[in-house]
Amino acid sequence: MKIIEVKDYSEMSQKAAEYIIDKVCQNPNLKLGLATGGTPVGTYKNLIEDHEKNGTSYQNVTTFNLDEYIGLSGENKNSYRYFMDEKLFNHIDINKNNTNIPRGDSKDTEEECLRYESLLANYGGIDLQILGIGSNGHIGFNEPGTTFTSQTHVIKLASSTINANARFFNRIEEVPTKAITMGISTIMKSKEILLLVSGENKKDAMGKLLNGNVTESFPASVLKNHPCVTIIADKAAVSGLKSHCQ
Ligand code: PGA
Repeated sequence: MKIIEVKDYSEMSQKAAEYIIDKVCQNPNLKLGLATGGTPVGTYKNLIEDHEKNGTSYQNVTTFNLDEYIGLSGENKNSYRYFMDEKLFNHIDINKNNTNIPRGDSKDTEEECLRYESLLANYGGIDLQILGIGSNGHIGFNEPGTTFTSQTHVIKLASSTINANARFFNRIEEVPTKAITMGISTIMKSKEILLLVSGENKKDAMGKLLNGNVTESFPASVLKNHPCVTIIADKAAVSGLKSHCQ
């Protein structure tokens, strides 16, 4: 894992956007894995600004999001489909038909997991996957204990995840308790991974990632087995920990 330490959230967002833009310029047909949550919002803002200023085009890019809440349709403001449309897709020249997110409102969620996994396989997998990390070490919504061999599946959200995500909802009771998420093996098949980490509340997780063992009880630790991971982390999340990273 290569780690880039930056000053703050703003610099993390800037660097991450530059990283993605560079990949899109090198490969206009990039298959890009995207994440939701608070962490990538600044990155998406910078991608939009660059698109407006410099005309970077996403016309031939295909995106795959990591996860979606079960029970929310794309029109629901708390769905990740809505989030992605609002925070990125509506503001760049991407073809919406090329933006893929598990369907949280599908009648048969198990079937939807199989569809999503085979869709990814049919596209030949993801070139660059953007990831955040949960304070409990989750990646996507793969909560602690998820097997490293997992494919896209239904997951029951950990109570720490529900608490953390309640800030996006009116009331904690509105946070869905289940989601569809790419599995850990699905994520690990990406050719390259860019992990973004910001804030002091992620420092414990970063300590475990950089200095702990590879274990299913801390899902992000699997990234140590991936040949091409770059972490962009701000000082608050990583200062004092970095020297332990190879
Ligand atoms: P956050 O979530 O970006 O809102 O902190 C990260 C995650 O849960 O993966």
